[in-house]
Amino acid sequence: MASALLELQDMEVAFTIGKKTYPALQQISFQVKEGETVGIVGESGCGKSLTSLSVMGLLPETAAMTKGGIVLDGKFMEPASPERWGAVRGKQVSMIFQNPMSALNPLMPVGKQIAEMAMTHLSVSKPEAKRLATEMMVKVGLSRVERLYDDYPHQLSGGMMQRIMIAMALICSPKLLIADEPTTALDVTIQAQILDLLREMNRSTGTAILLISHDLGVIREVCDRVIVMYAGYIVEDAPVGDILDHPKHPYTAGLLQSLPGADKRGRPLYTIPGRVPALADRRSGCPFAGRCPSATDLCESVAPDLLQAAAHHRVRCHLYANGGRAV
Ligand SMILES: Nc1ncnc2c1ncn2[C@@H]1O[C@H](COP(=O)(O)OP(=O)(O)OP(=O)(O)O)[C@@H](O)[C@H]1O
Ligand SMILES: [Mg+2]
Repeated sequence: MASALLELQDMEVAFTIGKKTYPALQQISFQVKEGETVGIVGESGCGKSLTSLSVMGLLPETAAMTKGGIVLDGKFMEPASPERWGAVRGKQVSMIFQNPMSALNPLMPVGKQIAEMAMTHLSVSKPEAKRLATEMMVKVGLSRVERLYDDYPHQLSGGMMQRIMIAMALICSPKLLIADEPTTALDVTIQAQILDLLREMNRSTGTAILLISHDLGVIREVCDRVIVMYAGYIVEDAPVGDILDHPKHPYTAGLLQSLPGADKRGRPLYTIPGRVPALADRRSGCPFAGRCPSATDLCESVAPDLLQAAAHHRVRCHLYANGGRAV
């Protein structure tokens, strides 16, 4: 069994707005093993990006880790140590974002941006960095790379730019790649190509992937395991097949029902009624109770624990309280 590359231990992240503190992530515990592909899914505002930014040590200024911690490759990551995070970012963990245009420097040729990553983190010479960068550009499926190397971001299509971002993220052979909605801005065909590329990169380089998406369909293409988040909590965590075939949490079931599928053609898509509560509106009890078709009085008043419902299946729901064991 591969060892844990990343471990989040009972992490809480809270925003301070004025004199008030609002927890945005609570009791976040999960592991990513070496080479594993893990998805995080949930609607807008559930805390997916905040989770990934925590792992990169890039929380917004108004947010802080108020409990728990992060262990990366066996080392505890001190939240308040920019040097510690700076040393691992790009080298051990890299990230690609939804909008590559905002992450790339518009004034620098794209090839050079990849080469600079190599020079910064691998201490290689300029010609060697250029050689590695063009090699990486070929690996991520770009063609005519000699010419492309000197192109500026605005000369590239969205799909090509996302490939450049992936090349930049992978040039230093990180152990973990975090991809936050990497295909949301792309059309469906290009989206499928980028997802194939992520899967292929995971196979060929062994880089573990943490893929964030609000779309279970995207996650199913790439990931072995899925973590479902709701209102700042992990509500379910299981192998992708189990989640798709036997979802346990009513929220996961709702997400699945709202996936488009051949059998639903011609019918309007299902949407879960209601919406994710804003930070200031989070109450005691189960955070999903107000939208849950199975909610009881207990759910309104008592927050469920994350239970181990089966060997590789965790769920945070009172429906499973008798068959599960708190973790
Ligand atoms: N800078 C900020 N200041 C205050 N609240 C914030 C800030 N960034 C995020 N939040 C809040 O934290 C919660 C989690 O946000 P996060 O960005 O992690 O959601 P998400 O799951 O990534 O959503 P999306 O699918 O829209 O990207 C939300 O309630 C959001 O409003
Ligand atoms: Mg997000």
